[in-house]
Amino acid sequence: MGLSTAQGKEAGRVPLPLTSRHDTWWIRPLVTLLVLGTFVIYATWRGLENQFYEVGPYLSPFYSPLLPIRLDIAGWAISPAVYIILFPLSFRLTCYYYRLAYYRAFFWDPPACAVQELAARKHYTGERQFPFVLQNIHRFAFYIAVIFIFILSYDAIRAFFFNGQFGIAVGSLIFLINVVLLALYTFSCHSFRHLIGGRINCYSCTLRNRTRYSIWQRVSQLNERHGLFAWASLIAVGLTDLYVRLVASGAIHDVRFF
Ligand code: FES
Repeated sequence: MGLSTAQGKEAGRVPLPLTSRHDTWWIRPLVTLLVLGTFVIYATWRGLENQFYEVGPYLSPFYSPLLPIRLDIAGWAISPAVYIILFPLSFRLTCYYYRLAYYRAFFWDPPACAVQELAARKHYTGERQFPFVLQNIHRFAFYIAVIFIFILSYDAIRAFFFNGQFGIAVGSLIFLINVVLLALYTFSCHSFRHLIGGRINCYSCTLRNRTRYSIWQRVSQLNERHGLFAWASLIAVGLTDLYVRLVASGAIHDVRFF
């Protein structure tokens, strides 16, 4: 499918990466690069900042759960976010959707369908060798991600209580939206879909299997939008943390409706 540089020139087109495609195939990997790259830089900075992560009933999702563990290396206090983030990070990094996105955007391997990859390889080992064989932990990362949904749900409920009194503020709504999007992302996971509907030979044979089938159908509907939930939840986590930081640092005030 690739087009050689000479052929590209002959055809009067810019001979940039070798392809016969005329559409704007490069927009998707570029947007992925920008959004994912920005998130990684922001999350790293915030994780290391180790302050402005809690204010009133709000706790940044990067620092939740707030563990009483404090580690010091050579007098430098390790931010708890560093070891908390390993769990959600392992879930996102091994996600089938994100793999597709970052293999294309960061590794150009290849950047899109019918576009030549960056460097020709002698041996293609897929995800069968280290480090990519670690992608197989996704099922286990999913189990941990479910635990985090419960933890963040607790944080979202807490965000509606101010000094023990129920109330609603902008922050409360942001926390609620954040956990809903994270739950949609988590429960639209391909592993969850397989967990619910896989390894069954006959869906209609027993009541249990029929129930699993109907749940599987709903999970499949969510699964069709997994990519959308992946991006929406990523942005929501970043914005929730940003909101907590702005309020905690005094840069803005939380607006309370009642
Ligand atoms: Fe994306 Fe499981 S496939 S979270």
